[in-house]
Amino acid sequence: MLRRYRSDSAHVMPVAEIDVKTDLTFEDEPVQILARDVKVLRRKSVPLVKVLWRNHGREEATWESEEAMQQQYPHLFGPKTDYPKIEAEKVLRMNAANHEISYADNSVFQKQIILKIRPIIEESITDAFKKIVPICMKVADLGCSSGPNTFMAIWHIIETVHGICQQEQLKLPEFEVLLNDLPENDFNFVFKSVPGFYEKLKKERGDMLQKRCFIGGVAGSFYHRLFPTRSVHFIHSSYSLHWLSKPPVGLENNKGNVYMARSSPPNVFKAYADQFQKDFTNFLSLRSKETIPQGRMVLTFLARKNQNTSTEDYGLELLTKSLLDLVDEGVVKEADVDSFNLPLYTPCKEEVAEIIEREGSFEIKELQVFVVEANCSSREELLGSKDIWVQKGKKFANASRAVFEPIICSHFGDAIIDKLYTRFATLAANAITYSMDHKTLNIVVSLTKKDFYQ
Ligand SMILES: C[S@@+](CC[C@H](N)C(=O)[O-])C[C@H]1O[C@@H](n2cnc3c(N)ncnc32)[C@H](O)[C@@H]1O
Repeated sequence: MLRRYRSDSAHVMPVAEIDVKTDLTFEDEPVQILARDVKVLRRKSVPLVKVLWRNHGREEATWESEEAMQQQYPHLFGPKTDYPKIEAEKVLRMNAANHEISYADNSVFQKQIILKIRPIIEESITDAFKKIVPICMKVADLGCSSGPNTFMAIWHIIETVHGICQQEQLKLPEFEVLLNDLPENDFNFVFKSVPGFYEKLKKERGDMLQKRCFIGGVAGSFYHRLFPTRSVHFIHSSYSLHWLSKPPVGLENNKGNVYMARSSPPNVFKAYADQFQKDFTNFLSLRSKETIPQGRMVLTFLARKNQNTSTEDYGLELLTKSLLDLVDEGVVKEADVDSFNLPLYTPCKEEVAEIIEREGSFEIKELQVFVVEANCSSREELLGSKDIWVQKGKKFANASRAVFEPIICSHFGDAIIDKLYTRFATLAANAITYSMDHKTLNIVVSLTKKDFYQ
């Protein structure tokens, strides 16, 4: 049965005006970015954005290349903030050897890592040498920094090959050793240490070995090409690859954190994971061009235990807490903390394996997660005296400062650094009982370059 209709303004459907051109076409215009993703192809990753178009519903939103959209419609990506972008390659370095708190004097923890993976290096270098038996063996250490650790792995590599040659009566090769780090690294100290290294080699292993060893420096990012095509037999890198090429984009809501912390929103974990995936894929692809087939690579870096990213303390919470205390005191601006995100990532074992397999140039020989005690004192020792807590807190603060000072100063300025690390040392001393059982998780992966030419 028909009924009379009573007019109701809520029933009126708004119709947006469409600017139709004379040839009866109209231009689609994007109005909002709804989501982000990264499409990972075999050789590269493409950042994508999901775009909502004018006169279309959400279900009609389309995925587009972020780069193309940003070029054509920059206004969609929000106003530019005044925050300085962290240019990792320019500001990343460890404290120089002449600094009061140098990396050279405060890297005992990283030394333990190198010592712990000795058997893996030994297996890997033995395999590379025996398969190839080169006249000149080219070995590279990536992220060598400056200090005693720079020469530790290199010493061990040379010593291992020397041992094999003696045992199997093979001719000793020459060694070309390439020490790489970013250009701001304290290479002066590295080069000044070379004569001492030669002297030690001569004294402990003889004149002949020393005369066959040639050490050089390569300044540049390992996220770019470093060596000529198919030239390197063995690559080692310890505690460097957890550094990203830059902080991930899209971390505006990671307020009050300097990394992915337990309180970070979920997009922060994804942004960090995506950046690591891009960087590590790129690293492998570059190294695959530089290593000879059957060449070997041993990489060690910080790790996390679970795929579930949100349940672990990544060890940077003391740094965050110290910065936030300075915000409360009015020494540091809150906005400066909000805009500071470290270009650092702690992947889990599964992520690393997946990236290596997907990139495809290297075969995994060994992939291990191992633990190093952050605290070398016994429980009894720590519970016995409060003085020891203070000492330990200071030591921990110095170890952190030797690594993070340059990047912190580039963002917050130099003036805050003493205050920041005094606060850090106090917080660390108070947290000793918590950190007594704290163990740092690490990944070591030993790889062989697949036997094909690209
Ligand atoms: C914690 S230190 C490790 C140094 C040494 N391998 C050790 O185990 O003690 C990390 C080093 O990696 C370097 N590094 C970080 N990103 C890099 C990059 N993209 N290219 C080259 N070196 C990089 C840093 O400058 C720093 O010297």
